[in-house]
Amino acid sequence: MVVRKISIAAFAGSLRKKSFNRGLLRAVVALAPPDVEIRVVDIDDLPLFNADLESETNPLPPVKRLCDAIKGADALLIVTPEYNYSIPAVTKNALDWASRTDGVLDDKPTALMGASPGRFGTVRSQLHLRQAAIENNMHVLNDPELYVTQARTKFDENGDLTDDETKKRVVELLEALAAFARRLNQGPEQSVRP
Ligand SMILES: Cc1cc2nc3c(=O)[nH]c(=O)nc-3n(C[C@H](O)[C@H](O)[C@H](O)COP(=O)(O)O)c2cc1C
Repeated sequence: MVVRKISIAAFAGSLRKKSFNRGLLRAVVALAPPDVEIRVVDIDDLPLFNADLESETNPLPPVKRLCDAIKGADALLIVTPEYNYSIPAVTKNALDWASRTDGVLDDKPTALMGASPGRFGTVRSQLHLRQAAIENNMHVLNDPELYVTQARTKFDENGDLTDDETKKRVVELLEALAAFARRLNQGPEQSVRP
């Protein structure tokens, strides 16, 4: 049986060069199973949301890039830090822009992951993201969850993930998201050529 490849649009909610979360997203790309294609979306040049900048006919290029990538993918992965017990502005800003383009987030199978030097590994940020997902009718994968705690012990000086247990859990989450997307988008597994 040929299993259809699942495409996952993914972005990291940190602009920092040696960001743990950008490193986690690089690990996602490197570790993606053969039936999963990760399409990383660059959100570094997204402006702060401003309704005066919105245009349905001529959206700003970074907004169009983000929305086209999410719309064209089977699923969405958000890799986010936690700031002040909540969603960092960079992550929320991307979500706010995407939420303004009709249908982009609607029904989208979505998974969350995040890394923090602290003991809770972005759990509070992810919980707040789940709340924002409700408003946009996104379907957030419940199991497994991935909270990368004590990131300084799991990434090297370049921000690359080195921890084998975390790598294993990244793969498990990607496999679960792909299966979730297949269930939501197509029903049971299908024998469709890529
Ligand atoms: C404004 C600010 C608030 C923060 N608040 C939290 C927090 O609530 N919880 C937490 O675990 N880490 C917090 N941190 C630490 C971040 O987890 C840490 O800076 C992390 O490296 C950010 O992710 P990044 O490496 O991907 O940029 C905060 C950092 C900043 C700059």
